[in-house]
Amino acid sequence: MSSSNQVIFFDTTLRDGEQSPGCTMHHDEKLRMAHQLAALGVDVLEAGFAIASHGDFESVRDIARQVGNSDSAPRITSLARAKREDIEAAAKAVEPAKKSRIHTFLSTSDLHMAAKLKITREQALEQIGEMVALAKTYVDDVEFSPEDATRTDPEFLVKVCEVAIQAGATTLNLPDTVGYCIPQDYAAMFRMVLDRVPGAKDIVLSAHCHDDLGLAVANSIAAVEAGVRQVECAVNGIGERAGNAALEELAALFMVRKDKLPYTNNIVMTEIFKTSQMLTACISFGAAPNKAIVGANAFAHAAGIHQHGVLANPLTYEIMTRESVGYMGQNIVLGKHSGRKALEHRLQELGHTLSREELSVVYERFTDLADRKKLIYDQDILALLTARETAIA
Ligand code: KIV
Ligand code: ZN
Repeated sequence: MSSSNQVIFFDTTLRDGEQSPGCTMHHDEKLRMAHQLAALGVDVLEAGFAIASHGDFESVRDIARQVGNSDSAPRITSLARAKREDIEAAAKAVEPAKKSRIHTFLSTSDLHMAAKLKITREQALEQIGEMVALAKTYVDDVEFSPEDATRTDPEFLVKVCEVAIQAGATTLNLPDTVGYCIPQDYAAMFRMVLDRVPGAKDIVLSAHCHDDLGLAVANSIAAVEAGVRQVECAVNGIGERAGNAALEELAALFMVRKDKLPYTNNIVMTEIFKTSQMLTACISFGAAPNKAIVGANAFAHAAGIHQHGVLANPLTYEIMTRESVGYMGQNIVLGKHSGRKALEHRLQELGHTLSREELSVVYERFTDLADRKKLIYDQDILALLTARETAIA
């Protein structure tokens, strides 16, 4: 196990994210996103699944060529089933990158092996050994994922990990493919692997969590505390079904809770909001308004008591500033729950300082309007000033 506290951010927005409903992206959108993910500071960028289609292959190859072209660029990887043709396609697609990786996987739970792959445990072990070794002939950096690891018999998982490491895997990713795990079980699985698998302490262990029970981020953090040093995640938490662990939530957790999570990473926090917005522009849905970190309401205060507190000292109701994640918009939302203080503050921002009496008149008009209108915009507030002049004249 690495003694370093550096956590590697492996971004799978363009692979696990992109393969989910409503998230397909065209070649140019993928390239634009890949440039932005590099600016965000991700360490490993899973650019796609090269064998999946000609378009996917071209996207991975162009990202490798155009985004992965310097020593400071992210490592570019492509997913590949543990099959010769997949590994060859992945190797060819990532080949132009300065730093590349092949990420190969095979299901190892009895359920998946019987229902999906129709192979025995022995056949799986043989295939893993052969295909990891094949990937290693193309690149030094090979990641292996036993798909459905969290529902794999632990005794068999130990053997799987041993074979993958012996064949040359440098990263071992143990995915919670179906989002079934709870944090203590996920952490225990990694501790068991570190304890029992020869060589596990000398490679990077990785967490890949799905959010079916809303625990993807909690599970990833539990894994880090158990010794994992790579987290796989996606912007806005997109990914299969309920999605992957949200990159921005993991990064914010490491920033805000340094006291309990003393780990470092390369994410440039001020690029978070821009990256989220760019993704929204590329796919067919945005983050829910109440989504942590990047939702429209994540830094918005509508209740009068909260607005008063935040105007006096943002720390009263904010655990991080909106600027720290690159959001420059308003945090005070005016509506029927807003108080006099919030209205006065917004008017001052718009260049109008009112006397006590004037503010009382305008506030009365404001509450009247807010009872009828759900969202109050700056132009509505400015219109209330005309009302003030009429009222005062
Ligand atoms: O969820 C999963 O198991 C995956 C693997 C391919 C890593 O996405
Ligand atoms: Zn996944």
